[in-house]
Amino acid sequence: MQIIKNYSLKDYNTFGFDVNASSFVSINTENDLIELFQSGILRECTFFVLGGGSNVLFTQDYEGIVVHIENKGIHLVSEDDNRIIINASAGEVWENFVDKMVELNYGGIENLALIPGYCGSCAVQNIGAYGVEISDTIISIRYFDLISGTFKNIEKANCNYGYRDSIFKHALKNNAIITDITFGFTKKSTTNSSYGALNKELDKLGIINPTIQDIATIVKEIRQSKLPNVKELGNAGSFFKNPYISKLQLIKLQQNYPDLICYPIDETTFKLAAGQLIELCGWKGKAVGAVGVHAKQALILVHYGNGVGQEIVDLSNQIIEDVNKKFGIILSPEVIFV
Ligand code: EPU
Repeated sequence: MQIIKNYSLKDYNTFGFDVNASSFVSINTENDLIELFQSGILRECTFFVLGGGSNVLFTQDYEGIVVHIENKGIHLVSEDDNRIIINASAGEVWENFVDKMVELNYGGIENLALIPGYCGSCAVQNIGAYGVEISDTIISIRYFDLISGTFKNIEKANCNYGYRDSIFKHALKNNAIITDITFGFTKKSTTNSSYGALNKELDKLGIINPTIQDIATIVKEIRQSKLPNVKELGNAGSFFKNPYISKLQLIKLQQNYPDLICYPIDETTFKLAAGQLIELCGWKGKAVGAVGVHAKQALILVHYGNGVGQEIVDLSNQIIEDVNKKFGIILSPEVIFV
C-alpha cells in the first residue's frame, strides 16, 4: 500500500474534471485495507472512497485522502440446477461483470448492461435501469468496518435498499468500505422486459421470448442511442433523481401539463420523469460555458472539456430553480458532490 501525494483525479471521474487529491491510495487487497486502517490516516484526515468515479462531481481539489478500490476477483460460491451464487470484488468494473454473466447465461443483471462504475459503488447507489435494480440480485455484502477494524457481512434485507439508496449512504456512510458482493443469478432464461422502451424495441424486432443476451443487446443499443459515452463526453449518467409526488399534486399538475409522464409507486405516490421536467423548462441541449444539458436526454449534465466542477453546480442550481418555479418540484441530485 502506497500513499501518493498531490494526485490528479482527472482519469478517476467520468465528468473528467481536473482536480487533485492531496493524498491518494489504491486498495488492491484486504491487507491493503488493514494496513491503511492501522496507519491511522483515516482518523487523522477526511477521506473519500472512490470506485469508478461515475457518480461523483468533484467541485474542487480534494483536501484529504482518496481511497481508490481496485480489488479484483469473480468466483463461484455455489450452484444448483436453477440458481448460481457468484461473488464479485468491489473493484470489478460493473460493465465487464455484466458482460461475463450474460455470456455465461446467468440471468438477473442483463438489464443493467453498460452502466459505468465499479461493483462496490453500484451496490452503494443501488443502480437501476430498464425495470431492474442491482439490489434485486444481491444476497449479501462484505465490508471493512472502520469502527472495529474488522470485516463484516451484511445481508441484503438489512441494507435498506430503496430507489438509488442504501444503508451505505446513511448509517454506514464513512464507516464501511465494501470489499465484495454476493449475487444470486438464475440459470433459467427468464427475463424482465416490462420497461416501456425495452418492450417497444422487442416488439419492433418481433422478439416474443427474449433471451438474456437479447435483453443485454437491446439495453446496450438503447443506452448508446440516448446516453453519452463517458469516454467521449464527460458526464455522470442521470444527474438528478426522478421525483416522487403525491396523487393530489399530480392531478393539479396534469391540469396544465396533461402529457406529464408518471409512474405509480403506490396508491398515493407517483414518480415523474425528471428529464421531461427539465426538457419542458427549455434546458435540453443547452450549453453554458464548458458544461451543458445533453441533447438526447435532459437528465444528463455534460462537461465538454476544460471546465470546472463548479460550473456543473451552478448549472444544476439553475435547473433546480426553473423546475421548482414551473412545477413546484425540487429536484435532488443523484450525483454525489465532493
Ligand atoms: N424524457 C423526456 N425528455 C428527456 C428525457 C426523458 O421526455 O429529456 C422522458 C422519456 O421519453 C421517457 C421518460 O422521460 O418517457 C423516462 O426516460 P428514460 O426511460 O430515459 O429514463 P429516466 O427516468 O430518464 C431512469 C434512470 C436511468 C436509467 C433509465 C432507464 C434515474 C435517475 N435514471 O432515467 O439511470 O438508465 O431510467 O431505466 O432513475 C442513471 O441513474 O445514471 C441512469 C442513467
